[in-house]
Amino acid sequence: ETFYLKDYKPFGFEVETVELTFKLAPNSTRVLSKIRFSPKDNAADPRFFLHGEALKLISAKIDGAPVTPELIAGGLICDTPGTPFTWEAEVEIDPAANTALEGLYMSSGMYCTQCEAEGFRKITYYPDRPDVMSTFSVRIEGDETVLLSNGNPTGSGEGWAEWHDPWPKPAYLFALVAGDLVNHPDRFTTRSGKDVELNIWVRPGDEGKCAFGMEALKKSMKWDEDVYGREYDLDIFNIVAVDDFNMGAMENKGLNIFNSSCVLASPETSTDANFERIEAIIAHEYFHNWTGNRITCRDWFQLCLKEGLTVFRDAQFTADMRSEPVKRIEDVIALRARQFPEDNGPLAHPPRPEQFQEINNFYTATVYEKGAEVIGMLKRLVGDDNYDKALDLYFDRHDGQACTIEDWLRVFEDATGRDLSQFKLWYSQAGTPRVKVSEDYADGSYSLTFEQSTPPTPGQPDKAPRVIPLAVGLLATNGDELRATEVLELTEAKQSFTFDGLASKPVPSILREFSAPVILERETTNAERAFLLAHDTDPFNRWEAGNALATETRVTMVTEGAAPDGAYLDALEKLVRDDTLDPAFRALVLSPPSQSEIAQTLHDRGVTPDPQMIYDAAETFAQTLAQQLETSLPRLYAATTVDGPYQPDANGAGLRALNGRILSLLTRLDGGEQAARQYQAADNMTQQYAALAALMKAENGEKQSQAFFDQWQNDRLVMDKWFALQVACAAPDAAAKVATDLTRHALFDMKNPNRFRAVMGALAGNHAGFHHASGAGYQLLAENLIALDNLNPQTTARMCAAFQTWKRYDSARQALIRVELERILATEGLSRDTHEMVSRILQG
Ligand code: ARG
Ligand code: ZN
Repeated sequence: ETFYLKDYKPFGFEVETVELTFKLAPNSTRVLSKIRFSPKDNAADPRFFLHGEALKLISAKIDGAPVTPELIAGGLICDTPGTPFTWEAEVEIDPAANTALEGLYMSSGMYCTQCEAEGFRKITYYPDRPDVMSTFSVRIEGDETVLLSNGNPTGSGEGWAEWHDPWPKPAYLFALVAGDLVNHPDRFTTRSGKDVELNIWVRPGDEGKCAFGMEALKKSMKWDEDVYGREYDLDIFNIVAVDDFNMGAMENKGLNIFNSSCVLASPETSTDANFERIEAIIAHEYFHNWTGNRITCRDWFQLCLKEGLTVFRDAQFTADMRSEPVKRIEDVIALRARQFPEDNGPLAHPPRPEQFQEINNFYTATVYEKGAEVIGMLKRLVGDDNYDKALDLYFDRHDGQACTIEDWLRVFEDATGRDLSQFKLWYSQAGTPRVKVSEDYADGSYSLTFEQSTPPTPGQPDKAPRVIPLAVGLLATNGDELRATEVLELTEAKQSFTFDGLASKPVPSILREFSAPVILERETTNAERAFLLAHDTDPFNRWEAGNALATETRVTMVTEGAAPDGAYLDALEKLVRDDTLDPAFRALVLSPPSQSEIAQTLHDRGVTPDPQMIYDAAETFAQTLAQQLETSLPRLYAATTVDGPYQPDANGAGLRALNGRILSLLTRLDGGEQAARQYQAADNMTQQYAALAALMKAENGEKQSQAFFDQWQNDRLVMDKWFALQVACAAPDAAAKVATDLTRHALFDMKNPNRFRAVMGALAGNHAGFHHASGAGYQLLAENLIALDNLNPQTTARMCAAFQTWKRYDSARQALIRVELERILATEGLSRDTHEMVSRILQG
């Protein structure tokens, strides 16, 4: 069954109140619901449909009288009086058997829920759609010491607790947690003086890993007041960490539930990257309270309304807490790694899709990250003040509503007077636009001509020109900035912009700050790239110039068997030693483009990528760079070593990132002597992990890997790192074998998404290993996806995306992949989730 945006119809009833009672038992939880419905229009069909899945209906009543609803696939149908009425139902569910981790399930002995997008229907019969909003009162009966739900606590006693959420919400924001948990408490006073109790709830033993998350939460609360004028609206805000979770975290009203990997942090067990991610996800979920909860989505096609905006807001937050250019570069790296392949392959869809079979398959980089990019463009086009005005209007006008992208764009039109009809194409057209640039200089006048086009994507053969904001600056050949950044608005298929009064031909710096999610195509030279790497005043474009140099070098190494570009090596050397530059920035310039990205670039240029050759080029390049830097590496290593107690702040993290890059180069020369010393001395995970990774990459880390295992075998999150690292560091011809052995390891647990992803995600991420000509990588992933699908369709379906780039590769590899995709598709009882993903990948 396919659902279409165009088929939207409002629900025929208002839901005034929802009262739920949970009588918890692992295999037989009883859920009693008492729901007040009133028909919106008395002439409408008096029968109503409620969603329900995997529920055992015990009894149902309307206004106290037993009724016998018709049970159909996906729910029930029942006659109703045609006037307001009270629906009561009792159902039985089996949380302990729920390995899909959707609805009410058990994780390490605790009860927890995940309802977004359509999991509430696995808890009780209900109109499980985001435009049906109601207040909820919840009573939980259970032996656990901690019984939590949304809203404010209204009473508790031995074996029970009651909660009331005064803010009307859709069912996907419902949450319940019950377990023998301990808390890390704190308080926050909002700017209007409201005192809020804060808690992070964890399993005993993890209470020492909550302090960082709590600080992040308080910073987020303050930031949303300061920057967006948004205040928290309940007496209590609870966060719970659970080990088994399909995604990162969930913004349930007043009761956020987190994958423990996205909240638990300590210097000994978490890397700098983990700390930064945790801070961002805590912020993201907290920011949803206004962008998602107070203002939610009318239907799931509008998902990017809340996700794009909330990702945009959390990126602003991280930029404010840390470094703005570094955050921007990191986001663009991630966008190119995750969103561009989606946009340029069989899974391409617009940020607002118009059809789906399984909405869980659309929690994608396109909806989230491209959704955020679209908002960044909008802000750049209207300006910061107008953005603030539009957002104030959005909160004012739509508080308490379930909204659409049209509502969102209208507040910008009303606040600014701008017509956004063409801009709206960003929401409906899939695919990454290509912007071809040509230039012309004569008599002091310099012009840039841009041509835009977007390749066909599934179901969208032709694309109309979009509004593309291009931030452009001009530099003189001596490095001076001739023209500061200005935003050119490209609206036509082909358009020129002229700059007058220039004494000589300038060097353009185009798409500064990556002002639009497009692929820029411009004929240029390595000399000019090196010039921009040295002189651009826009840090993003400085990095971008280095990235382009790295890509060109890698490409010519692969296609022409060339040696690494000497000028580029020199430029890198200069940059690494430049102490005036932010270490985090230097670390990013030193980080090579991913092998998968090189494969895509080759494919775009009509060359069939050979993963082994791309791997060899990467190795050769790194080895050559290490040799070039040989004499300075020990000094650089010493100069970037952070002494003193570990602090997860941005400055220390930047220095450690650079130090880690240097250590990996150094290890290529000393075989691991320095890394072994660092491993021995490390008192924090960032340095321990960097040392272990360097040693394993050098195939000289067996001892440390065993020591790491012995030290951390009882810490699930650290063991995920260990599992992933084994596969990530494996040579191309060994990756599948290493991963196979790990799936037989005593600590491998298919039912834990983090552990499954640690091994299978690392396999998919080991480009040359996954795409090894033997096909062993493809086969292993397919086997494991088939095995997991029975247990956990959501995580299975998401991981199918590893195959989305298959059409890049040679026919032999395509044939091997096709066999695996068809094998998955032929599996009996395959989930709707996986079926949709694999069919789209095969067809696209
Ligand atoms: N809304 C959550 C977030 O953005 C993601 C939850 C998605 N869950 C899912 N099963 N699709 O943080
Ligand atoms: Zn979100």
